[in-house]
Amino acid sequence: MIPQVASSTPGQGLFPLDRGARVRGPHAGTARELLGLAADGEGPGEITLRLVDDASLGEEGYTLTVAPEGVQIGAAGVAGLRWGVQTLRQLGGPGGVPCGTVRDVPRYAWRGVMIDVARWWRPVSFLRAYVDLLALHKFNVLHLHLTDDQGWRFEVRGHPRLTEVGAHRAESPAGHAREGRFDGTPHGGFYTQRELRDLVDYAAARGVTVVPEIEFPGHSQAAIAACPWLGHSPAEPVEVRTSWGISSHVLNVSDRAAGFARDVLDELCDVFPSRFVHIGGDEVRGDEWAASPDAARRVTSAGLAGPAALHGWWGRLLADHLRGLGRRAVAWDDMLDHDPPEDMVIMAWRGVDRIDAALRAGHDVVAAPHTHTYLDYAESDAPGEPVSIAGPLPLETVYGFDAGDGVLGMQAQLWGEYLPTRERFDYNAFPRLCAVAEAAWSSGRDLGDFTRRLTAHLPLLDRLGVGYRRPHDEGARHVHL
Ligand code: ACM
Repeated sequence: MIPQVASSTPGQGLFPLDRGARVRGPHAGTARELLGLAADGEGPGEITLRLVDDASLGEEGYTLTVAPEGVQIGAAGVAGLRWGVQTLRQLGGPGGVPCGTVRDVPRYAWRGVMIDVARWWRPVSFLRAYVDLLALHKFNVLHLHLTDDQGWRFEVRGHPRLTEVGAHRAESPAGHAREGRFDGTPHGGFYTQRELRDLVDYAAARGVTVVPEIEFPGHSQAAIAACPWLGHSPAEPVEVRTSWGISSHVLNVSDRAAGFARDVLDELCDVFPSRFVHIGGDEVRGDEWAASPDAARRVTSAGLAGPAALHGWWGRLLADHLRGLGRRAVAWDDMLDHDPPEDMVIMAWRGVDRIDAALRAGHDVVAAPHTHTYLDYAESDAPGEPVSIAGPLPLETVYGFDAGDGVLGMQAQLWGEYLPTRERFDYNAFPRLCAVAEAAWSSGRDLGDFTRRLTAHLPLLDRLGVGYRRPHDEGARHVHL
């Protein structure tokens, strides 16, 4: 069982979870699908889902009672019923489900996984498979990193060049970017609004909210390549970036660029109902602003201390617009240094100390420190590990992370540079995502017990076709770019 449940009491016997089991109550359709049951099951086993008036379960807690003749799942809302079904699914073995009772409530409200689809476009089927894997481990947020220097993946009807031009790059690094080699192969792709709406619905039915991210005002070279009037040198257009690393190009601070950002957010909010919308805000290089007379005029008119403060000007503009749309802005913690509005959620990535810094400044915080949650980092530094951006970040370190009590939640990051394929992605994601799942859901931590449960959990990942890295098996799978 991963993540570990809050409390359980074993009973006697087994519930025979076979295809004929009947399911009744809210969420029965998806429950049948998740449990692999026939739509017209006639028993004798019966699974009953029931909404109960128990405030102590919160929005996502549930109770599960397994007896030989039937299963009862109770929760105050459908969200809890969904997690109860996922627990039942994990408990099921060849002979049935062991009898007993479970009462389970998550530690954090935000249990996220960020997937970078900007560096490499990924098929919708990949994203659906990951929604299923997230839900299996009781993650409730899929943070989609939709744009970056190397690609713009979100269809914007009012600005079609963003995907006509910005969704394609001429080539990509071969091997580690510092080697300076390129693959000579164009790469591209984007998601239509219709595809994304379908993904949002698919995820919602499984208890996962899709939180979209558009990067402003840095990491925006693909947008500037598509719309040169967003940048600082319209006469010398830039290309969609082909190497990894941070671009020196940033959005300018014109009224037209501000209007563009509002247009993009309007369409984004139309597609994604999430209350939280991520506006990026990390790694903004200020050289172009420092050299720009237009930026200097904006500094004066907005009463700012200097060009570096335009970082915060962007953050406040975006957060204000989202507030007007009934949403809340989320930003990477770089924004914390630039006078963010109090209602901005800070995603603390640069270190564990940034969690406290953001809390002290009065923000809601999602803990995402690279030292513990960047699963694109190599798991070990043993020979035979595939090319990665950094590392090592062993499973034990991930498991040992405690985000503290004051945060909204925590999140794993899977930046895409060195994870171009499903195979490479799975290898970095699992089993460390299991460790993040437990750190995000469960209140206690026991590494030995987790390791035993993980061993028992891996056959389920095998059945689901996940190409995970075998624990303590450095370099056993030689996956190279
Ligand atoms: C980040 O890793 N630049 C948020």
